[in-house]
This record gives sequence, structure tokens and C-alpha cells, in this order.
Amino acid sequence: MNISLPFTHTTIAEQPVSQNTPDMGTDKPMIVIHNLTKVFTMGDNVVHALDGASFNIEKGELLAIMGPSGSGKSTLMSIVGCLDVPTSGSYILDDSPVEKMNDNQLADIRSRKIGFVFQQFNLLSRTSALENVMLPLTYTNQSGRINREKSMQALEMVGLKERVYHHPNELSGGQQQRVAIARALVNNPSILIADEPTGALDSKTGAEIMGLFQNLHEEFGQTIIMVTHDAFIAHHTDRIIRLADGRIISDSLNANPLKAGTLRPDAENN
Ligand SMILES: Nc1ncnc2c1ncn2[C@@H]1O[C@H](COP(=O)(O)OP(=O)(O)OP(=O)(O)O)[C@@H](O)[C@H]1O
Ligand SMILES: [Mg+2]
Repeated sequence: MNISLPFTHTTIAEQPVSQNTPDMGTDKPMIVIHNLTKVFTMGDNVVHALDGASFNIEKGELLAIMGPSGSGKSTLMSIVGCLDVPTSGSYILDDSPVEKMNDNQLADIRSRKIGFVFQQFNLLSRTSALENVMLPLTYTNQSGRINREKSMQALEMVGLKERVYHHPNELSGGQQQRVAIARALVNNPSILIADEPTGALDSKTGAEIMGLFQNLHEEFGQTIIMVTHDAFIAHHTDRIIRLADGRIISDSLNANPLKAGTLRPDAENN
């Protein structure tokens, strides 16, 4: 299907992704999600935040999740990120059934495999960029020197080598989000989950952060799942999954992802 967005200069070609597992060689998909539901009950109020979502994600994909407010995007990311378990349905991550795991097992998977980035950067204000990035390594058995080196490397990956001793209030919003991304990367996770990472940034800085995700994806093969309300940002990824009322209403490959630095057209948002 070809969708023409209200872009002035470009037409985005999208192809639906097969509902079945795409056959990409002998490797199984990294993430296999089938008929996922999440029901929240608060008194008499029952919310079906996820209502039968199914999809696979291959290792190394860069994809966007879109959908209106309340459509279940963050709920889905919490489950994919092993912060929460579904009410029903199955979630297989690297051949392990996550939906059967207890809290300790979930925490173990999170610390080894998942990095999170949020709209608000959630940095500790009284510590340097470097110390913020070192935080997830606090409870590892590695020496302080190794933790420091790893954190320096992560800050270099996000282009902040010159700012490692700055505190958050000495950094711009985009730089603070880069620190948060370095913190998410420092454990070398297989999946980076970003829930509206550009939501608190102006459009130019948001595009720079998108460029960083593209670089991480191209250079280091990171699997990146990004929630965004911004269609222009989403079209920098290779695949867009759209949710509505807890269901997947479309799942399309983006044949010509925009390159970071592309000028944003005037009428950009969904
Ligand atoms: N912990 C919770 N308890 C009760 N209801 C919840 C909880 N978390 C989410 N919900 C409800 O589930 C639905 C989906 O919420 P979710 O946060 O996943 O939406 P979203 O797509 O991320 O929205 P937004 O774009 O505003 O961030 C909403 O109706 C929300 O009120
Ligand atoms: Mg949300």
C-alpha cells in the first residue's frame, strides 16, 4: 500500500508486514508476541489496555509504535520491556517465555537485555553525566574502573565525550536525553525501548535524537523500539506498528526511511 502523508516533498511507501513470522533465514525472531491482552481493573472500571496484539520483532530492527493517547503503547512497552506481564497471551523473548516469569526473573532479564529511554530524561540532578550513566552498573561485580570505562564509551557513542563531568542542569535537553540513552546502552542491552524519547524536545533536537537512534542501529545493530506521536519521526524507522484501542490496526514496512537531517515539512504530525 502506498500512503501519502501530508508531506510537501516526499511520499512514503509502506508495505504491510505479514502477520505470520517472516522467514528471515533459520534464526527465530527475537520477540514473538501472540494474542497479548492486558486488563486493568479499578473498582467497577475494567480497561482493556491491550486486546489481542500479535507481532514479531527480528533482532536489529528499528521500528516505531504509533497510536492515539490511551491506545496501549506504553502498556505494550512495559510488557516488551519485562516491567510487567500480560493478563493473557504469550511473549517469547530469545526463546524464553516471559509471560511465565516471576519478578526476580523479569528483573534479571531487564538488567541483561533491556535498556529504557523515556520522555522525561529521569537523570539524577546532583551527579555528573558520567555518574548517571554508571548507575545501572552499580550492582555488577565489575571493578569501578571497568564500570567507568564502559560508561565513558557509552557517552562517546552518544556524542557526549566532552560533557562527561557536566551535571544535568549544565546540559541542554537534547544532551540530557543523550545521557539517558547512554545510561540505557551501558549494559549493552539487546533491545532499546524508547517511549516518546523526542516528546519533550523541540523538533530540531528531536530530529537529532532520531539521528542518534539511526546511527546506533546502523553502527551497532541495536534493536530499537520507539513510541512516538510524531509521524515525521516515525518515518525515520524501517517499520511502523499502529495501535488503536489495544489492537494493532496496521503493521507496515517503510521502504524509504527518512534520513536524519531531512527538513521537516510544515504539516507533520498525525
Ligand atoms: N496501571 C494502570 N492502571 C489502570 N489503568 C491503566 C494503567 N496503565 C494504563 N492504564 C490504562 O490503559 C490504557 C492504555 O494506557 P497506555 O498508557 O498504555 O496508553 P498510551 O498509548 O501509552 O497513551 P499515551 O500516548 O497518552 O502515553 C489507558 O486507558 C490507561 O488509562
Ligand atoms: Mg504512553
